[in-house]
Amino acid sequence: MTVAHSPRFLMCPPRHFAVTYSINPWMDPQEWSRRSHILAQTAEAEWRSLKFLIEQSGAVVDLMTPAAGVPDLVFAANSAVVLDGKALLARFRYPERRLEEPHFAAAFDALVEQNILKCSTRLPADIALEGAGDCIWDRERELFWVGFGPRSSKQAAMAVEEVFGVPTVSIELVDARFYHLDTAFSVLPDGQIMYFKGAFSRSSLRLLHERVDSRDLIEVSEEDACGMRLNGIHIGRKLILSSSSPSLRQQLADHGYFVSVTSLSSFLLAGGSAYCLTLRTNLTSDSRSLATDVKHALDRQADADADAHEPERRAENIAQ
Ligand code: ARG
Repeated sequence: MTVAHSPRFLMCPPRHFAVTYSINPWMDPQEWSRRSHILAQTAEAEWRSLKFLIEQSGAVVDLMTPAAGVPDLVFAANSAVVLDGKALLARFRYPERRLEEPHFAAAFDALVEQNILKCSTRLPADIALEGAGDCIWDRERELFWVGFGPRSSKQAAMAVEEVFGVPTVSIELVDARFYHLDTAFSVLPDGQIMYFKGAFSRSSLRLLHERVDSRDLIEVSEEDACGMRLNGIHIGRKLILSSSSPSLRQQLADHGYFVSVTSLSSFLLAGGSAYCLTLRTNLTSDSRSLATDVKHALDRQADADADAHEPERRAENIAQ
């Protein structure tokens, strides 16, 4: 079985993950420190289950090296924007996260060396863009949706257009709880867009309705958005989420998707969930590759299901 077309994700083990500062309304360092030991163990176990589920669904995971002193490094989605083998490295708004930049740069050098990516490039000075957390590829419409406001600069979209040679649509985030686009907006594999209305400015909502057919817009409740249920990983027709609700499950089923849940409660305390913990590294701007991509994921999932009881395979996954 070839892995060339399987979805490929970068992840960072949560060895040093913790909530030690607060840069979004979900983060409470005092609350974390009261239960830090147990929460660190929970994070390890939850992250391993997520990785296992991703692999079992037919995707490939590459790991980067964890580092002390940068507790949010685990949120690989923020490391860069990647398309067609090219990575545009993130620049963070807050100094706490700026410390992650050299670690991510080293991780991308390694991916280029291993031929997983072709090259990595940097943003112009003074422009912040927090990677795929604020820049989401829409294969159907062949454009990037770029979130700005709390973290990324409004000018980031222009830099993205220049680097990748594709159009962008800028979306303004106006609710501090939804500080990255990926907390309130998700593009599903067939081009439907799930979103929480309250996160966006009026003009951005207008733009969304202009660009997307109303049949492809899936509006979710505030409760689902606050549960970070828009922050999912898509593999084939499967959506991996930290939790779900009956109404969200139904909304997704109506569009032909099914939900697979794995708890990420410790990461929610930092304001992140499944999508944030991964970065898709083999997206291409060629929408014709969609069919093969989904087919390969399904083939690999069938293989993985058949292998699921093989003891060594389990041991290896659990050990990582
Ligand atoms: N604590 C991190 C921050 O505030 C969480 C990042 C979550 N990542 C994401 N792509 N939404 O930056």
